[in-house]
Amino acid sequence: MKRIGILGCGAIGTEIALAIDSGKIPAKLTHVFDYSKDASKSLVTKLKNKPEITENIGLLAAAPSDIIVEAASQDAVRDNALSILQNRKDLMIMSVGALLDESIFDIIIEGCKDFKRSIYLPSGAILGLDGIRSVKDELESITLVTTKSPRSLKGAKFFETSKLDIENIKESTTIFEGNAQEAVRLFPANINVSALLSLAGLGSLNTKVRIVADPNTDKNTHEIMAQGKFGKFLIKVENVPSSSNPKTSRLAILSAIECLRAVCQSDIRIGT
Ligand SMILES: NC(=O)c1ccc[n+]([C@@H]2O[C@H](COP(=O)([O-])OP(=O)(O)OC[C@H]3O[C@@H](n4cnc5c(N)ncnc54)[C@H](O)[C@@H]3O)[C@@H](O)[C@H]2O)c1
Repeated sequence: MKRIGILGCGAIGTEIALAIDSGKIPAKLTHVFDYSKDASKSLVTKLKNKPEITENIGLLAAAPSDIIVEAASQDAVRDNALSILQNRKDLMIMSVGALLDESIFDIIIEGCKDFKRSIYLPSGAILGLDGIRSVKDELESITLVTTKSPRSLKGAKFFETSKLDIENIKESTTIFEGNAQEAVRLFPANINVSALLSLAGLGSLNTKVRIVADPNTDKNTHEIMAQGKFGKFLIKVENVPSSSNPKTSRLAILSAIECLRAVCQSDIRIGT
């Protein structure tokens, strides 16, 4: 049975831990770490089989486990991905936006090769990455339009410099248009899906992203348009936000659980 460590004990980390505890993911949760001690303790109290809370991230990276699940932040990926690989552990990354920093991406790819380890990136809050990967040599454009309620966008770095007052948006408003690399920098906790599309397809500078704040929606909606010699995809996903974190969609949590389950279980693999 694979031994799992979790980095980040918030909405996603907690649900993954519960899925392991209930046997849905056939694995053993051995260690958890969060820089909020309260978050780690609160996660552990929810479990029948209690993992160890490590004192720091270095101890999590070095602990005897097979896979570390990152469900924390882009900074956590930047600061720790290489040392996790160096410690001979596979890594599942949720804060995928970190990989659009080319220097980080290169270091991590080299780490995978040097230490013969794998990185898993769940499909997160969207569908269609299988198709995008299949047609990547024929792709001409990818556009992502993400619509969220102001509540789901609040706190993003973008608002530190923007004159826009997110509390006072009264109608559906485009608040950002740019490429995926800019989007994940300004909205690090909101638009990881643009990083997934970029990594699967054309690259971060060529994925066009539009972010819409809509006070009349309670969903996180992603519309993806991809076209090229192969034809065209139009994908629309209307996600219910997680009850514990409105920035994170319920589908992102379910997709992380399914990704880890597939990695931990000898099984038929369905889909590309
Ligand atoms: N790939 C996707 O489609 C997708 C979808 C949703 C969320 N995400 C990303 O996954 C990550 C987790 O999401 P969540 O909803 O569970 O967030 P959350 O805010 O509910 O939980 C994150 C937890 O990680 C901890 N944390 C943050 N940085 C840390 C660090 N450097 N070291 C240790 N602990 C740290 C926080 O204290 C918090 O408890 C976020 O970065 C989010 O943007 C990705």
